[in-house]
Amino acid sequence: MFPVEKIRADFPILQRKVNGKPLVYFDNAATSQTPKIVIDAIVDYYSNYNANIHRGVHSLSQEATDKYEQARIILQKHFNAKYAYEMIFTSGTTQSINMVASGFSSLLKKGDEIIVSALEHHSNIVPWQMLCEKTEAILKVIPMNDEGALVMSTYDELLSENTKLVFCNHISNALGTINPIEEIIEKAHNVGAAVLIDGAQSTPHMKVDFQALDVDFYVTSAHKVCGPTGVGFLYGKQEWLEKLPPYQGGGEMIETVTFEKTTYAGLPHKFEAGTPNICGGIAFGVAIDYLNSIGFDAIATYEQELLEYGTQELSKIDGVRIYGTSNKTSVISFNVGEIHPYDIGSILDKLGIAVRTGHHCAQPIMDFYKIPGTVRASFAFYNTKQEIDVFIEGLKKSIIMLS
Ligand code: ALA
Repeated sequence: MFPVEKIRADFPILQRKVNGKPLVYFDNAATSQTPKIVIDAIVDYYSNYNANIHRGVHSLSQEATDKYEQARIILQKHFNAKYAYEMIFTSGTTQSINMVASGFSSLLKKGDEIIVSALEHHSNIVPWQMLCEKTEAILKVIPMNDEGALVMSTYDELLSENTKLVFCNHISNALGTINPIEEIIEKAHNVGAAVLIDGAQSTPHMKVDFQALDVDFYVTSAHKVCGPTGVGFLYGKQEWLEKLPPYQGGGEMIETVTFEKTTYAGLPHKFEAGTPNICGGIAFGVAIDYLNSIGFDAIATYEQELLEYGTQELSKIDGVRIYGTSNKTSVISFNVGEIHPYDIGSILDKLGIAVRTGHHCAQPIMDFYKIPGTVRASFAFYNTKQEIDVFIEGLKKSIIMLS
């Protein structure tokens, strides 16, 4: 049996009330909650060894540097990157994607093609549009079908020797669809294109192996995996990170500076200008260790149970339409008849239930279904079937109030 009650005790926030009701937190795809062990690591850093890293000979600086570099190694091992210096700390998924897009502006030429999927978050659409404007490269889109899955036969047709880059999320944030990234990567490599995978929604739910995937770039944010906000990483294969120019100039990313010429530091420092989110990086490592102490297989099995139960109970309610019905993680995106998702979300909030409503930063998906948005309930391993029951009762009440 999955020890959910024991796990819940690790999360102080799960004990609180919202609007006088026990919190039911079903907005995990937006951000995950933080276990005490991660909160303690943040407090420990600021209480005991707050110092700038890679700069001082003094003990505090060395302690902070050691912990920060140990966190990089935790991430390297967890994601099976070949080298720790392929794990670049960033402020999160959005910055990581922008770093690659910005770097490719010097590698692309007019007429080169880049492919994105129809299931992307805006953060994996807009940077590529900006890149296309700058380079006159052409953006092509792998379409989606009614089940919320990618139409892979069209992907085959889009690929050509002109394709230089392919971008896709591992899992759709709006629908939960698990994309066939192994196939996407292999086929892109067959035409010589590089692949960036947005892992913001996959890394909380599964263990990902960069070398087995043979992926060129993979990105995520710590706050999706029980870590703090404002920190994430860009994984890049060494050969690609060496080809890309630095993203920002500043301290830490140089080897030597004169007014005549500056030479850049090696990896990972070339991409880590300025003082980073030191505490955040350390806490990211603690969060990954925490999740591994529970086990990703156990997490995935339990979350699938929650998904099945939630889908079953929701489907019993008249007028409910669930969007995204193919192979997916614990995300249920739905609408009830013509009721606006925002209205349902607001009433659920009064009952202490947190869901996300709207287009989920994925407007093309909403346009495909011709809807303004959905209500999205996204479950984590610390949620329970009893909470799903509370949510279903709350939803029924809101439907009565809004009909
Ligand atoms: N991308 C996050 C979400 O899906 C914020 O809610």
